[in-house]
Amino acid sequence: MRQGLTDIEEMFKLLDQSPEIEDKPTAKPLEVSGPVIRFNDVKFHYDPDREILKGVSFEVPAGKTVAIVGPTGAGKSTISRLLYRFYDVTEGSITIDGQDLRDVTQNSLRATIGMVPQDTVLFNDSIGYNVEYGRPGASQEEIHDAAKMAQVGEFIESLPKGYDTPVGERGLKLSGGEKQRVAIARTILKGPSILILDEATSALDTKTERDIQSALDAVSANRTTVVIAHRLSTVIKADEILVLRDGHIAERGRHDELLAKDGLYAQMWNRQREATEAEEQLLRTANDPDGFVKRGMPAAE
Ligand SMILES: Nc1ncnc2c1ncn2[C@@H]1O[C@H](COP(=O)(O)OP(=O)(O)OP(=O)(O)O)[C@@H](O)[C@H]1O
Ligand SMILES: [Mg+2]
Repeated sequence: MRQGLTDIEEMFKLLDQSPEIEDKPTAKPLEVSGPVIRFNDVKFHYDPDREILKGVSFEVPAGKTVAIVGPTGAGKSTISRLLYRFYDVTEGSITIDGQDLRDVTQNSLRATIGMVPQDTVLFNDSIGYNVEYGRPGASQEEIHDAAKMAQVGEFIESLPKGYDTPVGERGLKLSGGEKQRVAIARTILKGPSILILDEATSALDTKTERDIQSALDAVSANRTTVVIAHRLSTVIKADEILVLRDGHIAERGRHDELLAKDGLYAQMWNRQREATEAEEQLLRTANDPDGFVKRGMPAAE
């Protein structure tokens, strides 16, 4: 037996449902072939006195990946919330295969989209249930395959109770990276044709970052993907990168094009590259103290 109320409460937390969004009486199920996503001059505010998106236009072609980067508070997660229709745009429109999100049923929209939020909230239930939620009724084998693809299978199997391990207060405490991989496993099982991924901002060690990257590659292949990216490894692969600043797209292009522009993007990634190199240097030092001494004294060579 599931704890009915708790589950519902957690689901609302998970979905961050905004009850003011209602289906139009004429709403039709979303029909997807591509799917192609379009933001047409989208403006949005939570509070009328503070505009968050000030006219954002972009397209994600079928099967391609668009990465959104930019400073904290720029409105990146807001874009993902609008696409999942937690809120309606204030002006402009968002379409999927030409259908305005306001004209389709929320159920059909959310069945088409797999959303991995920035802060994943898991159900107070077993870790297996948390993966299965992506497609209730999936077989054990399918659940295990999804977890493996998301690079979290080995970890789950190493627990004494495996997939039956309870998640929550007195059960297992998962790290941010583990939670996000459980959410990715859930999404792999769901097999949506659109993927929205809001990468966790917390710092990850190099191995965890690599694991999450393989998980993302597995889930985004051939899907129309919007990824809010904080890590260089994710953006390098994107078909287009949007640099969002102060509610506008300040720069757009592929990784090397944006580096060549030597603007905001180049500044962001040069800073991150320096931090990564410093971390790798530290790791090498820990593993190979002699090597550090040699490298640490270039002037003497
Ligand atoms: N529910 C809300 N009500 C009012 N303001 C909000 C709400 N959610 C977000 N905001 C504000 O909107 C702005 C954009 O928020 P958003 O979460 O989209 O930023 P972000 O680019 O994802 O930042 P980060 O990189 O830190 O995740 C922020 O200034 C934030 O404070
Ligand atoms: Mg965010």
